Amino acid sequence: MHILILGAGGHGQVVADILLRMVEAGADLTPAGYLDDNLGLAGQRFVGLSVLGCMADRIRWPHDAVLVAVGDNHTRQRVAHQLASQAECFAIACHPRAIIAPDVSIGPGTMICGGVVINPGSVIGAHAILNTGCTIDHHNRIGDYAHIAPGVHLGGDVQIGAGALVGIGATVMPQRSVGDWAVIGAGAVVTKDIPSSVIAVGMPARPRQTEPGGGRHAGAKEPI
Ligand SMILES: CC(C)(COP(=O)(O)OP(=O)(O)OC[C@H]1O[C@@H](n2cnc3c(N)ncnc32)[C@H](O)[C@@H]1OP(=O)(O)O)[C@@H](O)C(=O)NCCC(=O)NCCS
Repeated sequence: MHILILGAGGHGQVVADILLRMVEAGADLTPAGYLDDNLGLAGQRFVGLSVLGCMADRIRWPHDAVLVAVGDNHTRQRVAHQLASQAECFAIACHPRAIIAPDVSIGPGTMICGGVVINPGSVIGAHAILNTGCTIDHHNRIGDYAHIAPGVHLGGDVQIGAGALVGIGATVMPQRSVGDWAVIGAGAVVTKDIPSSVIAVGMPARPRQTEPGGGRHAGAKEPI
């Protein structure tokens, strides 16, 4: 299976590394290279793979599947929707050193980094990011386009909504939920359910005051 990585930034390079580790471990796939709309990257090589061109060049490069390697959850959703409407298939990048119970289901386009642990009964959505060393305990539900950042720990029976970001090193207590497109700040401890589209920080995590009149949506600034 030939896979194109869409995005050659830091996130895309981690995806490339995972695919190459999968090849080393015997997976039947070939990472073909990156496509990126930053034209200054064309021809450069990162992690042993070349930037082949921009997104519109997709049709020039024979492939069986793509991976949207964009860290921002909203952007990843938008690009994945566009590609799905053009009948693209989505690969899964799963580091061979992730520990995943056999009954866990993983949606297309999802990336699972090294050191991740996923326990039985969990369901991982499409185009999600399970970042380095996070742990997903039993019977979790992780929504499409969610990002579980490095070193996060989710207790048993946790639900993370679509597009939510759980920031680096945060903890979610068992049986709690984080709403769609919410952002949990780095290091937070979620002790109560967090509604959709809010930013919550601290220990215990509490929704942060936002400026009158709204301002940007909760997930708009999502460094990766
Ligand atoms: C919570 C978060 C979304 C806020 O981002 P922001 O709106 O740009 O916030 P700012 O940096 O402007 O900080 C605003 C205030 O919140 C505080 N703050 C920021 N992040 C915080 C956090 N995680 N916990 C507690 N307080 C935090 C800041 O100290 C600042 O306080 P002040 O007004 O008293 O000085 C962000 O800091 C965060 O934690 N993002 C997670 C990033 C992450 O893990 N990404 C995954 C990468 S792989």
